[in-house]
Amino acid sequence: MSTTVVVGVQWGDEGKGKFVDILAHDADIVVRFQGGNNAGHTLVVGDERTVLHLIPSGVLNPGKICVIGNGVVVDPAVLIEELTALRKRGYLADDACLKISDEAHLILPYHKSIDLARERLRGKGEIGTTGRGIGPAYEDKIARTGIRIVDLLDEVVFKEKLERNIEEKNHYLKAILREPGLDFATIYDAFRAHADRLRPYVTDTALYLHREIKAGRRVLFEGAQGTMLDVDHGTYPYVTSSNCVAGAVAAGAGIGAGAVRQVVGICKAYTTRVGNGPFPTEEHGDIGVRLRETGDEFGATTGRPRRCGWFDAVLVRQAARLNGLTGIALTKLDVLTGLDPLRICTAYRADGERYEHVPASVRVLDAAVPEYEDLPGWTEPLSHARKLEDLPANARRYVARLEELSDTPFTMISVGARREETIVLP
Ligand code: IMP
Ligand code: MG
Repeated sequence: MSTTVVVGVQWGDEGKGKFVDILAHDADIVVRFQGGNNAGHTLVVGDERTVLHLIPSGVLNPGKICVIGNGVVVDPAVLIEELTALRKRGYLADDACLKISDEAHLILPYHKSIDLARERLRGKGEIGTTGRGIGPAYEDKIARTGIRIVDLLDEVVFKEKLERNIEEKNHYLKAILREPGLDFATIYDAFRAHADRLRPYVTDTALYLHREIKAGRRVLFEGAQGTMLDVDHGTYPYVTSSNCVAGAVAAGAGIGAGAVRQVVGICKAYTTRVGNGPFPTEEHGDIGVRLRETGDEFGATTGRPRRCGWFDAVLVRQAARLNGLTGIALTKLDVLTGLDPLRICTAYRADGERYEHVPASVRVLDAAVPEYEDLPGWTEPLSHARKLEDLPANARRYVARLEELSDTPFTMISVGARREETIVLP
């Protein structure tokens, strides 16, 4: 069985897209299993830059099958736009190359209105969501009032569910959130058109994956967001509304819990976060600015500047445990060139206690003061390095220390955005 899951170990934006693109080379099928178009993966192939939100990052490898699993929430307009743009550039020419789960839930316009209105009302306490309606769509799924792709394809069922939902949501939007209501007919017509466009791709993806795994096909599961944004294990409530850990693959793609062989964590050589919530190693001064500018740390989805800080080994160790990581791919090591010393957080102190794990309380985590270990930096650019020996001694030393603290073998190191700017470790 050749099944690999790729997950982010920090707060997302670790550079998963680049590694999914590389690993997809050796896969037959690439699958999204959670999240929605809150994700944004930037891929650089040759001189072409592609940003994907819903379609798996494996799509730029010809001949791969891309699957959007049942655990994903789908905004059909976004999906169609992405599909159209990719097809214009020659990708996904064959309809059989994209499969969308009939059990995936839809993001509807009221989900976006609710998401945005709630954030406005939260004021300073806002979560800093991407405003794409992700949370409200998952709420409806759990509340059993969601509308699935299979419902969208059934004119009668769709009309009935949409009518009922719009009535309820309009009450909520007007009376509680003080927002205008939405028009049924406009949404209905738009979504009927979406249904016709998506129909050729919709299938029972769990059954499809079961058969393909059984037949020995190599499947790559592409996580979105990151472990610290997981709704159970992240810095709640400053999280996304789905499970982002590797275990979510079983539920979000409909495969057996024992079907996963490898779990690769993607981990940045420093830490970033977009949106609000605790971030113990955040650097507010020059170092933060330097990391943001050198690392081009701006959100692929919203364009927001990312908060930046030092490597947090407490968090990475926790992610290694929660995901059962079998390997780590370290990204953006090149961004650290010129910084000296380099700091690594090995524990936190808060309320007179020492923590070697991430405490559940946001209040405690907000008060956490990192314990740092300092290592000497290097001044050489790294993007030409293709083997470990090509790295300056201090960079090798930094990587070795991160590996030790992460309790996980490092398998790859990225030293630039391009596919080839990668060191594969033996
Ligand atoms: P939501 O997923 O739009 O509800 O946003 C909830 C939180 O997750 C916010 O802090 C977002 O910035 C963050 N978030 C959601 N998706 C991503 C992602 O793909 N990368 C990084 N942060 C994300
Ligand atoms: Mg991203």
